[in-house]
Amino acid sequence: MCGIIGYIGHQPATPILINGLRRLEYRGYDSAGVALLERGKLAVTKRAGKVEQLACAVDEAAAATAGIAHTRWATHGRPTRRNAHPHTSGGRVAVVHNGIVENYAELKAKLQAAGYRFTSQTDSEVLAHLIDHKLASGGDVLAATTAALTEVVGTFGLAVVCREQPDQLIAARRGSPLLIGLRADETYLASDATALVGHTDQVVYLEDDEVAVCTRGRYRLVDLQNRERARQSRTIELPLGTADKGGYDHFLLKEIMEQPQSVTDGLRGRLSSAEGISHLGGLNLTEPQLRGFGRLLVIGCGSAYYSGLVGKYLLERLTGLPVDVEFASEFRYRQPVLAPGTLCVLVSQSGETADTLAAMRELKRRGLPTLGLVNVVGSSLAREVDGGIYLHAGPEISVASTKAFTAQVVAQLLLGLKIARHRDLSLAEGQEIVAALGGLPGVIARVLESAPRIKAIAAKYAGCRQAMYLGRDSLYPVALEGAHKLKEISYVQAEAYPAGEMKHGANALIDEELLVVFLTPRNALYAKARSNLEEVRARGSQLIALGTQGDQDIAKLARDVITIPPVSPWIEPIVANLPLQLLAYYMAVERGTDVDQPRNLAKSVTVE
Ligand code: M6R
Repeated sequence: MCGIIGYIGHQPATPILINGLRRLEYRGYDSAGVALLERGKLAVTKRAGKVEQLACAVDEAAAATAGIAHTRWATHGRPTRRNAHPHTSGGRVAVVHNGIVENYAELKAKLQAAGYRFTSQTDSEVLAHLIDHKLASGGDVLAATTAALTEVVGTFGLAVVCREQPDQLIAARRGSPLLIGLRADETYLASDATALVGHTDQVVYLEDDEVAVCTRGRYRLVDLQNRERARQSRTIELPLGTADKGGYDHFLLKEIMEQPQSVTDGLRGRLSSAEGISHLGGLNLTEPQLRGFGRLLVIGCGSAYYSGLVGKYLLERLTGLPVDVEFASEFRYRQPVLAPGTLCVLVSQSGETADTLAAMRELKRRGLPTLGLVNVVGSSLAREVDGGIYLHAGPEISVASTKAFTAQVVAQLLLGLKIARHRDLSLAEGQEIVAALGGLPGVIARVLESAPRIKAIAAKYAGCRQAMYLGRDSLYPVALEGAHKLKEISYVQAEAYPAGEMKHGANALIDEELLVVFLTPRNALYAKARSNLEEVRARGSQLIALGTQGDQDIAKLARDVITIPPVSPWIEPIVANLPLQLLAYYMAVERGTDVDQPRNLAKSVTVE
């Protein structure tokens, strides 16, 4: 989603801003722009398309040592040069904005009546004119920005520069992340710590309704009533090496292949084989609390939601507690009936997903304990929940989630194991799960060795127009995630059903053109799944089966078979998902899509 980088220091600003934008590219965007403060002038350059097109249009050697830049992901108005940020007002003020100004139409009408001319179709342009309008009534750019923002309904991560105050950048936040980076006599602004890599690890996170005045190496924070706020900078772990594909063609493949390591990192120091339990330092829950919960509620969006659905099967079996799973976007506007004694688990790679944050805030308002399963350290969700488990999957750059999804399921298993061992799970059962998790990185490594075979299969079916993924039990949500991945990166229409549901409607879709991916490893429901598979086969679809190594029976039924080793049911959904990641990846490559930055998608969805 949109990205912001700002710089004020003593070095030429342009290369810093352009490189910052390059680091933010993974978030997804469709246009980019930069505003430089140079010799009493604001120089603005914008381009539709990629950052590289902007890089060709700007003078990297320009003398400016301050400026702001942006990658835009269109919400209001098409992805054109005109609609790209920065937006300016009379060559005096320039702004870059992440978020949505919900009352922009009303503000725009007032500003037009006051004589302002709008040149874009965006909601963000009102911010530039509104700040300029406030400046006209006296005061400095800080006062003008705070005054303007008190009139804004909606969300913002905002950076402002003003021709008349070239020695400051103004930043403001409500609901859209923004941080200040500090280094000697230089100050950076960024919507995402990734943009600060190579510059500084000293940061200050803005809170909602705070405004910062950034000068060279210094900052001052106020609230929207201009009251001073004090906050010390802190040292963060920067996601080093993120911009490097490590020899792979795409970040997505790199991230799939990193999973033996990312799972190892997520498990490090957390498993006790002697006690058959997990150690999770950040839960902030006492043993009586862990024993006392009567229900679990898991909330997320997209793949994080599907990981929660996998978690439901595992957590209910482990803890004996009922588990509800909800889309954050639905939950936040429902009137949910929340039983006291519910432990709420918010799942998010980025920790910045607007709907998930809103759901978490609603849960806190209702007095329920919240845990975050989050990958990005220091993200809004991680900072606001009562406790949590960091996923430690490492930076995930590709828009489509792979290693973070795996880590989300692993984290739910760790959480379930902890709760269950404080309830009824026996030592022996706990040790069985610890052993299964301990062996998981090795199993993942073996499954990923089948990449060349999956690549060849993907080449055969890449021309398909529709796909259906089928599975039973915890493999049903894996089917959902498999279909989600295929849709996202190859743009093939894909659906998923519980295999037993087929005859209740979806069978009507089966014909010779449909690609069916059937998950049918040798588990407790194998016989049931196998007979569902026979039904699909009888209707002549193109059938890929995912089975257990050595299953000759399945090999006779399906056109192509992808195998996984026999594994514990506790880790089977994680293992079965890996070939689906590879299948989606290779189909997308065959189809020539933009694998790492699929059209219309953003890595971190910070608006509704
Ligand atoms: O950062 P989050 O985990 O909160 O993101 C949630 C979804 O937007 C995300 O999982 C999305 O579905 C991915 N593109 C999945 O590949």
